[in-house]
Parts: sequence; structure tokens; C-alpha cells
Amino acid sequence: MGEFVVRGGRRLTGTVRVNGAKNAALPIMAATVLANQPVVLHDVPELRDIQVMTKVLRSLGVTVERVGRDVLVDPRTLNNYVVPAELMQEMRASIFLLGPLLAKLGAAEATQPGGCAIGDRPIDLHLYGLTALGAVVDDEGGRTILRAKRLTGREVHFPFPSVGATENVMMAASMAEGETRIRNAAMEPEIVDLAQFLERIGATVRGAGTPEIRISGSGSLGGAEHTIIGDRVEAATFVLAAAAVGGDLVVRNCMVDHLPGLWGRLQDIGVRIEEIDAETVHVVSEGRFSPFPVSVATGPYPGFATDCQPQFMTFLLSVPGVHLVTEKVFESRLGHAAELRRMGAQIIADRRVALIYGGHGLHGSYVTAPDLRAGAALVIGALMAEGESVIAGREIIERGYEHLDLRLRSLGAEIQAR
Ligand code: UD1
Repeated sequence: MGEFVVRGGRRLTGTVRVNGAKNAALPIMAATVLANQPVVLHDVPELRDIQVMTKVLRSLGVTVERVGRDVLVDPRTLNNYVVPAELMQEMRASIFLLGPLLAKLGAAEATQPGGCAIGDRPIDLHLYGLTALGAVVDDEGGRTILRAKRLTGREVHFPFPSVGATENVMMAASMAEGETRIRNAAMEPEIVDLAQFLERIGATVRGAGTPEIRISGSGSLGGAEHTIIGDRVEAATFVLAAAAVGGDLVVRNCMVDHLPGLWGRLQDIGVRIEEIDAETVHVVSEGRFSPFPVSVATGPYPGFATDCQPQFMTFLLSVPGVHLVTEKVFESRLGHAAELRRMGAQIIADRRVALIYGGHGLHGSYVTAPDLRAGAALVIGALMAEGESVIAGREIIERGYEHLDLRLRSLGAEIQAR
């Protein structure tokens, strides 16, 4: 297992550009199988999950090539609807292929993804949505097989606005006959990016970014070029790191509107945030704050992003006061609390709620990344801490952050990968 070695206490100064969003790129790559002409995707991050998605597409017969930051996909060679079990186990997002394969080939087959560090993560809402459009689901020896001679546009009313399930239904509906109406749809910016891609290949999608999305299917979808949106979670991670350790940081390709819960909270606490334009923010922080108690609860967009919760909790350790963090999206996503305690953090946590006693300083320690975003939170903790920290599980963190060590070093941090 690789490690990051960090010596804390350095301010972060300079400019960083946020990469294309992993969570937008993954469903859009899956959606390319709907097209019947080549697709060019710009600013696709070079991350392991993207490599796994590339392998999944290739296993289905699709031609995929990376040229620099672009991914070129030729879906005309698609000839298989079975997602290999080992790739499904490697990456949960392989589930995104169910909707597109079903729509394009009339069948899709995959193993159910396992649970993960942050909770059970079932796929019942994905299956509910696809069944509503006409799919028949069979479970055979641990494999889920969906079949549909044709898909028909219908009303799909989700009991919870699941991001992945909304995306799967949007993709399937793009080739269904008639109009699909998704109610209580997820509203995340990645949904809007997927909608724009589907529009570019010829589907009609209305209302993405609101709780009701209407999709008119088309029997044949063409090719397109599309640029992936900037990664709001990566942006928040850099901003929170600079806010916590102190710094003067310009963050580019940061979609300011995509982090609605963050800016006001940081300003209330005393971080100076200047919006230079819609995609650039300037953050100035001393890393020292007056007492200010904070309460935050995660929620579906536009609520506070669960993917930013671990990093925000670590930032709160630099703010004097008693803070309350409630995780409402996933059932056990506070694994970083115990690791932060090894660095001297004063946190009481159960599976969903944490009380944080901020403003006491951290010391270097040996910690292990429990999951991707919790790992990023530990990197922030290590940047704040006095002395040296070793963070094990570097590969877990690199699932979501490309060249994190190089980019933080260019801002003045002392961090090495080994
Ligand atoms: C996506 C993101 C992930 C982010 C999450 C919430 C990707 C690749 N991943 O994950 O980084 O943390 O949105 O913003 O885009 N649920 C069910 N049944 C289902 C589906 C989901 O009960 O069929 C539950 C989940 O267990 C979880 C909650 O709904 O508790 C939210 O999940 P969902 O919005 O689907 O997240 P993902 O799409 O998996």
C-alpha cells in the first residue's frame, strides 16, 4: 500500500487548476454506448476509476483511446452486454452501464456491486427506474440480468433523489419510445452535465438541475464533442486545505455555483473568498479564527455535499468552538474521525453524527485512509499538523485526485508519495 508523507505547517500559496470531474466523466463515458457515431470527451481526469471504465467499455467491444486530456470513443464496435464481474467489483460506477446497454442492445448483465466503506449502497432505485421503463430483471447465480424488447417512456418517481439512479434512467430514457418524466430527480451539477451530453448526441432533456426531468427518447443518437465540468469536490478540497492551514490560493476551473453550501460558511468563519469570475475563486486565510460554532448536515444537492463532509470536518478542527457535523446521505461516512483522533483531534462520533472541539492543534501521526474523501481529509489534517504524518492508502486517495502530491507541492506543501 502506497503512502503520503507530509510535514505540516506550510501555507498554501499560488494557483491550482481543478481537473474535469470524475463523477461527471464516469456516467458520460457509459452514455457513449448510446451513440452511433464517435464521441470526443475533453478534460477527462487520469484516474484509476476512469481507467476501469475504459476497460469496461473495451470489454463490451467499444473502441476507446486516450490522447492527452481527451478520451475518444467509437461505440460502433459495441458487441457485448455483459459487464465483467471483476471490473464490477473494482468499481461500483460500472453500474452506469445498465441503462445504456439495455437501451442500445435490449439487454444488460452485471453482478451486484458489493457494499463499501461508507455504507451498504444498494441498487434498488436503479432497478426500480429501469423496470418502470419496461425492463424485466432476473437474478441468476448472483448476476443481475435486465432485458427489454423495447423501452417506453414513463413516469419514474424516486423515493430518494439518488444521483446514480437518476443518471441510469436518463440514459435509458434517451432511447426509449416517448417521454420519460423523472420526479424527485437528483439535481447535482453532474446530472446537468450528463443532460448536456445527452442533448449533444440528440436526445431531448428538459429540467435537469430541477427535481423534475423530462426526456424524449430518440431511436438513433449521433456522435458529439463534450467538455467535462470542473470537479467541485476537488475544488472544495483545495479551498478547505488553504483555509485550514492558511494561504493565498487562486483556484481555477472551479465552478463557483456548484458549491452553494460552502462559500457562505467559510466567509462567516473568517475566510476571505473572492469570486474572480464564475470559474475562479481567490481564497485568503490566516488559518487562525475567532471562536465560531458551526453546524452542518449533508444532503442531496443543493444541500451540503457529502463528498466534501470529511474535508470540511477537518477544516473545522482549525476553528475554535464546538461544531456539529451530521451525515445524512450515507449511513457510515465518518471513518475519518477515528483517524483524525490519532492526530490529536478532539472528536466524538457515531455512524452519522460527530461533535468536534476545534482550535486545539494537531500533531503528526501514522493514519490510514478509510475511503477516498476521508483520505483527502487526512491529507488536510496532515498539512495542518505539527511534525510528520504518514497517510497509508495513497491509492485510495488517488482514485479521486490526480497528482495530489505534485500539485500540493507546487503550492508550498511538504508532501511526498512513496
Ligand atoms: C454519487 C457519487 C458519490 C456521491 C453520491 C452522493 C458518482 C460516481 N458517485 O454516488 O461520489 O457521494 O453520489 O452525492 O457519481 N441508494 C439506495 N438505493 C439505490 C441507490 C442509492 O438506497 O439504488 C442510497 C445510497 O445507499 C446512499 C444514497 O442513496 O445512501 C445516495 O446514493 P446516490 O445518490 O445513489 O449516490 P451514488 O450515485 O452511488
